Amino acid sequence: MSLFISIEGPDGSGKSTQARLLADTLRAQGFPVLTTREPGGTPVGEAVREIVLHPREMPATPTTIALLYATSRSELVQTVIRPALRQGTSVVADRYADSTIAYQSFGLGVPLDVTRCLAEIATDGLTPDVTVYVDILPERGLERLAGRRGENWLDRESAAFHTRVRDGYLQMMEEDPARWVRVDGDAPPEAVHGAILRALEPILKSERNAV
Ligand code: TMP
Repeated sequence: MSLFISIEGPDGSGKSTQARLLADTLRAQGFPVLTTREPGGTPVGEAVREIVLHPREMPATPTTIALLYATSRSELVQTVIRPALRQGTSVVADRYADSTIAYQSFGLGVPLDVTRCLAEIATDGLTPDVTVYVDILPERGLERLAGRRGENWLDRESAAFHTRVRDGYLQMMEEDPARWVRVDGDAPPEAVHGAILRALEPILKSERNAV
């Protein structure tokens, strides 16, 4: 048995730290765990990362950017995530399809039916067992990133953009409460980690019992 857990959140929410802490704890509990990040994780994904994340200015139209993220995801699902899950390894994904819906649709205005269709194609229908949303108010997230901001075009997006992204996450969570758990990212990392473990305990328990 294996679990597929995705971690989502606005920039500066600390979700990558949480993905790492969660994977470490699950490994310590005896689960084999693979972590992924998006975009990236395959040669195609790393090439997309270069194209999409490194330029100082927005490198393409919003729809093209959504297609690029979907390209990276499709390759990751087919060559990394599905094979891992099939052989009994759990996967902790630092971002997944919800990021494209939040950032490209809510943030950049790509129609929702487009990003939902891309999600369907890129994930090949593979939905996380649970998605952890690490919440942070845009001003706090941006404050945390202050030292880093200005490196690339996404870092330089406006507070209004980040507010739309967060609103998008909140809406997705409301529409599918069974899949999402929300934790407050504005707490010390260890406290956030504890909250995530508490929220995941029922699913981890049933997984342990199934082994
Ligand atoms: P990171 O901060 O988690 O490394 O993510 C990289 C950036 O890419 C972050 O600003 C969110 C953005 N992003 C999208 O806009 N759409 C996506 O589908 C993904 C995976 C990330």
